[in-house]
Amino acid sequence: MKAVVGLLLMLLRVSHGVEIYCDGRQDGAQCYGALGGTVVLRLMDSASEITKYRWKFNTTVILNGKTNRIDSNLIANRSVFTPSKGTFRINDLSRTDGGVYTLETFDSSGRVLEPRTLQLFIQAPVSSVRLVTECLSQGEMRASCSSEGGDSPQYSWTLGGRTLTHTELLSGNHETNNITLKQHVSGRLVCSVKNNVSHVSKEEMISNCGFIFINCTLCDGTHISQWVFAANNTLCIESTTVPTTVRDTTVDPSLLICGLLFAVAVLSVVGIAMFFHLKMRKYKKTKVPATSRAMEYSENSFSVVELRS
Ligand SMILES: *[C@@H]1O[C@H](CO)[C@@H](O)[C@H](O)[C@H]1NC(C)=O
Ligand SMILES: *[C@@H]1O[C@H](CO)[C@@H](O)[C@H](O)[C@H]1NC(C)=O
Repeated sequence: MKAVVGLLLMLLRVSHGVEIYCDGRQDGAQCYGALGGTVVLRLMDSASEITKYRWKFNTTVILNGKTNRIDSNLIANRSVFTPSKGTFRINDLSRTDGGVYTLETFDSSGRVLEPRTLQLFIQAPVSSVRLVTECLSQGEMRASCSSEGGDSPQYSWTLGGRTLTHTELLSGNHETNNITLKQHVSGRLVCSVKNNVSHVSKEEMISNCGFIFINCTLCDGTHISQWVFAANNTLCIESTTVPTTVRDTTVDPSLLICGLLFAVAVLSVVGIAMFFHLKMRKYKKTKVPATSRAMEYSENSFSVVELRS
């Protein structure tokens, strides 16, 4: 009954790579080592009171020892076994170091005690993370996160320290590498990439793409309700950012514009009417000697005047 015991990982950033401590004293542990990094394997409390022990990697014996003496170490050039602590530190890990490590101990009569094993997986750490954001045509923001080098990278996003929610996401979820954010979203966007041996993140302060939501009714009754680029916008001059309370107490600017347009239209009609009226009077005085009946007649219809001229 070899239940997989919860693994204890300790990530330490040391100058020559990632160092991970792997405690396999509970049999069946699974650990991860970073490619090029260091792993500290522990399968016993101490070797000081053990008559004889040996470490195997898969089926190969890699270390032999008696109490505080090490008889052989197949990977001595890049490893250190410390009998007092029972720790086996292996440096410069390569993919071929992944496999099953077994500790066999013997009692004074040479009998094998129950062996302990742990499984080591090697993963390349995530080396660099890139975060690119771009505004889309409708004011949405696309954010793409990419990483290099790492095995099985897992992505996650936060905005202002919180996980992204459906009210902020247009597409993707907080665990995909490409997401699309809604128009109103702004704040500190962080993309994190991790695997079992590394965790790297990249952040960017994002502001919305310059779009505003307009919602108003034009003079001709057209209802407008959409996102528009604020700098180019000529529709619905009232700003959506004006609080409702202010709007309630002041004259609605769109009403004012409708009123002005109406006034201009009325003035134009009056102006045109006056123009024709004056022109007609001038015409009658100078060019048309007519009877009063004809004048009356012509006064009632522009078309008659035009036919004569
Ligand atoms: C050790 O065993 C694992 C499976 O447990 C295997 O994937 C790996 O290739 C083996 N390594 C060597 C060097 O034999
Ligand atoms: C994410 O976007 C990048 C570039 O924008 C693309 O190359 C990549 O295939 C996308 N990934 C997924 C999972 O859609």
